[in-house]
Formats: sequence, C-alpha cells, structure tokens
Amino acid sequence: MQVFRNIRREDTMNICVTGGAGFIGSHLVDRLIELGHNVLVIDNLSTGMRSFVHESAQFIEMDVRDPKLVSIFEEFKPSIVFHEAAQTMVQSSMENPGYDCDVNLLGLINVLDACRKVKVEQFLMPSSAAVYGDLAVLPLTEELSGMPSSFYGLTKLTAEGYLRIYREAFGLNTVCFRYANVYGPRQGDGGEGGVISIFNRLIVEGKPLTVYGDGEQTRDFIYVEDVVEANIKAMGNNNCTGIYNVSTNTGTSVNELITRFRTISGADFMVHYEAERIGDIKHSRLSNAKAERDFGFVASTTLDDGLQKTLEYFKAHHK
Ligand SMILES: NC(=O)c1ccc[n+]([C@@H]2O[C@H](COP(=O)([O-])OP(=O)(O)OC[C@H]3O[C@@H](n4cnc5c(N)ncnc54)[C@H](O)[C@@H]3O)[C@@H](O)[C@H]2O)c1
Repeated sequence: MQVFRNIRREDTMNICVTGGAGFIGSHLVDRLIELGHNVLVIDNLSTGMRSFVHESAQFIEMDVRDPKLVSIFEEFKPSIVFHEAAQTMVQSSMENPGYDCDVNLLGLINVLDACRKVKVEQFLMPSSAAVYGDLAVLPLTEELSGMPSSFYGLTKLTAEGYLRIYREAFGLNTVCFRYANVYGPRQGDGGEGGVISIFNRLIVEGKPLTVYGDGEQTRDFIYVEDVVEANIKAMGNNNCTGIYNVSTNTGTSVNELITRFRTISGADFMVHYEAERIGDIKHSRLSNAKAERDFGFVASTTLDDGLQKTLEYFKAHHK
C-alpha cells in the first residue's frame, strides 16, 4: 500500500500528472509545485527521465495501462489530473500502430475510468496539431479537424472523441489542448516539434544541420513555459471545457529558424538541404483566439527569448 504525503493548505490541491517525467509534463510539475500543490507523478520512464521530476513531487514508476492505477487514485484522491503520458512519436506510430493505440487510447481509457471512479473534478490532456492533417486553412481553428496522416494523429483525434463522450455521458469535466509545436529545455529528439531540439544538439556538437525540402515550410512554435501557463490558466476554470488550440498563431519557417540560430549561437554551421519527406505538411499555424477568449491565455515568450533559453540548456547539458 502506497502512503502519500497529504499536506493540505487552503488553496492546495492534490494533482496527478501522468507523463510528469517527460519534457512538457516535468515543466508542468515544476510550476504546480511552485504554486504549492501536492503533486503525484505517474510515468513509466519509457522516454521520460527520473531526474526531470521535481524533488518535492511524489513519483510512482507505473504504466498508465496498469489496472492498479485506480487504487493509486483511490488513495491519493486527485482533484485534477493532467494526462501528459503518451506515445509521442509520429514515426513509431507508423512502425507499430498497435503500441500507439494501446498507450494513447487504452491507456487513456484506463486513466479516464480511474478519474470517474474517484470523481476527479477536472481532466486535462493534450491533443495535437496533427489532428488537422493536411488541411490548407490558416489559421486552423478548433471546429476543424482534418484527415490525420499518421496513426499518432488518428489516436489523438480519437482521444478527443473519448473526452467528449466521458464529459457528455458521465459528467467528467474534460479539457483537451491541441498543442502546436512545443520546444524548450528537456525536449528529446523523438517527439513532435523536435526540429528545434535536433538543431540545438547539432549546433552544440558542431555538426551540420539537415533540412528536408526547401526550408520554407512553416510551423507554429510555442515555448514550453507558455504551454504550462495555458494548462495553469485552464485548471479549475469553469469557462474552460472542450477543445482548445495552445499556440502563438505565428508561422515561422525552418529557414528563419536557422537565421535566428546563427545570430543567437554565434556559430558558423553548415546546412544541407535534402528531398522533402513524404507526408510533411507545408504550413501549420493555429488560431489562439478561443483560449484567449475563454481563459485569457496568450503566449508571452518571444521566439528569440525561447530559442536563447533552449540553447543555453542544451549547452549546459551537453555530454
Ligand atoms: N512536444 C510537442 O510539440 C507536442 C505537441 C503536441 C502534443 N504533445 C503531447 O504532449 C504530451 C507530452 O509530450 P512530450 O513532448 O513532453 O513527450 P515526452 O516523451 O517527453 O513525454 C511523455 C512522457 O510520458 C511517459 N510515458 C509514455 N508512455 C507511457 C505509459 N504507457 N505509461 C506511463 N508513462 C508513459 C514517458 O516516459 C514520458 O515521460 C504528449 O501527450 C504529446 O502527445 C506534444
């Protein structure tokens, strides 16, 4: 039997973060601890790192598909659950669709059922810009959904439907964020939005960068602390339900990123251009109007500041 520390102050809540040892989840945990909450992290460390988990958070190494999750919830009694754990790699989803489905859908259902059982007040999780598929609309708005070109995009789109039905049929208050391309310290190379972390590693190692296509493809890059702030603003907010883009509504091309990297790093690196990858979307930019309207979220980190902080992290942690 697990014994949890349960220090209650008036505005302190018990909050569970699955995937809290990962890139985005660990930053969210840091902020929740800073705000004084009791945080429990559940993570199987498949891509996350134990060292990323704040020392004041409680940690259980566990798979979100584990049926014992419900007994953990019965003891910890979370008011809020942030479900960041996922199979996050587009390419892996194409190589092993069964595993992607197992973690991203059956794992999700296991967590949702545990939330129902203990009457969690709010459940928040990320979807992805991948649900828009190759829709040629800019900016992309929440009422749209396209035809995802990967199983990862498809399981995220299906997850949105599960959240809707758990809300409508069982009264579980669910919020789903379509994160744009998130970047920042602690990001691995494999998941979504990895171009910035990949470039950072190559620059620090003095290696050339590879660009697929002409480099004029654009993405909506958002700094991880802004993504955390969107989660915090939505937490416990009754105005906030359903699907929200978490984005900057700004498109930045890969060539522009490279120009900014040259200025910020002062490094003189080579860039190789290779053939465009099949299935790559040309432009992606997500409207941020709904999140601003419903819970006052506006991303505040400039791209230069975010890139600077990220590069400093990669320099300091380069082995
Ligand atoms: N990084 C982005 O740009 C981006 C964009 C859109 C959506 N998202 C979503 O945000 C969430 C966090 O992504 P991230 O970029 O921080 O990835 P990440 O790989 O760093 O974090 C995922 C975490 O989940 C854990 N995990 C994976 N499978 C698990 C399982 N079966 N049981 C328990 N833990 C498990 C991993 O160990 C890791 O700590 C994911 O849902 C991802 O799909 C990320």
